[in-house]
Amino acid sequence: MKKMTLLLLALGMIFALAGCGADTAGGESTGEAAASASPQKQQTGGQHAARILVAYFSPTHSTEKLAEYAAEELQADLYAINPAVPYTAADLDYHNDSSRSTLEMHDAGSRPAIAAGVENMQQYDIVLIGYPIWWGEAPRIVSTFVESYDFAGKTVIPFCTSAASDMGSSAENLARLTKGADWLPGRRFGADSSREDVAAWVNGLGVKGSAQ
Ligand SMILES: Cc1cc2nc3c(=O)[nH]c(=O)nc-3n(C[C@H](O)[C@H](O)[C@H](O)COP(=O)(O)O)c2cc1C
Repeated sequence: MKKMTLLLLALGMIFALAGCGADTAGGESTGEAAASASPQKQQTGGQHAARILVAYFSPTHSTEKLAEYAAEELQADLYAINPAVPYTAADLDYHNDSSRSTLEMHDAGSRPAIAAGVENMQQYDIVLIGYPIWWGEAPRIVSTFVESYDFAGKTVIPFCTSAASDMGSSAENLARLTKGADWLPGRRFGADSSREDVAAWVNGLGVKGSAQ
């Protein structure tokens, strides 16, 4: 396990050196503003509480935990981006040049299929999208997700977990796959982040949901 952590840290360093932007020594930081960041919408209750969806991909469940915290805190709906073909441990082996995850990440056009879609995506004003960093990027299945819906008029807020890498350009690259969406700056978390860490972040977003 210690060896794994060291390897992941080394991996993070490689991506940091490759220009993806490094975090301050293991700390958490706010990611770069994504492609079309614009002033944050304030949805403070008033006449209309926003409908919020927290969508996430999390094959080893770290991002999932944080997505659950975020959804609870924001009174949002939760949606797991489940792959049609689940990822095995062998699929996630980044030491193997021909593992599924490596092949997908080497192919920018790869779009792994998703098992089941969001019910009535139209109802959501705000969508948080959570994912693990894979090779400095969002896994390709997150591209499948963002290309599956019309995000025009929606506010999108990305977040990620990683061993060491920052969000890098992962959110900007996802933003390019959507049209007419307002992408707010995202946030990178360590996999062991607490409910309080997530609560502090989401409560600073100035949005609140209305899930029943
Ligand atoms: C295929 C693959 C590639 C990864 N690439 C990176 C990376 O570039 N930088 C990094 O810091 N962590 C990397 N990691 C570690 C994950 O980002 C980290 O363990 C994450 O918290 C896993 O989230 P999950 O449990 O929600 O799947 C990688 C993990 C896998 C499986």
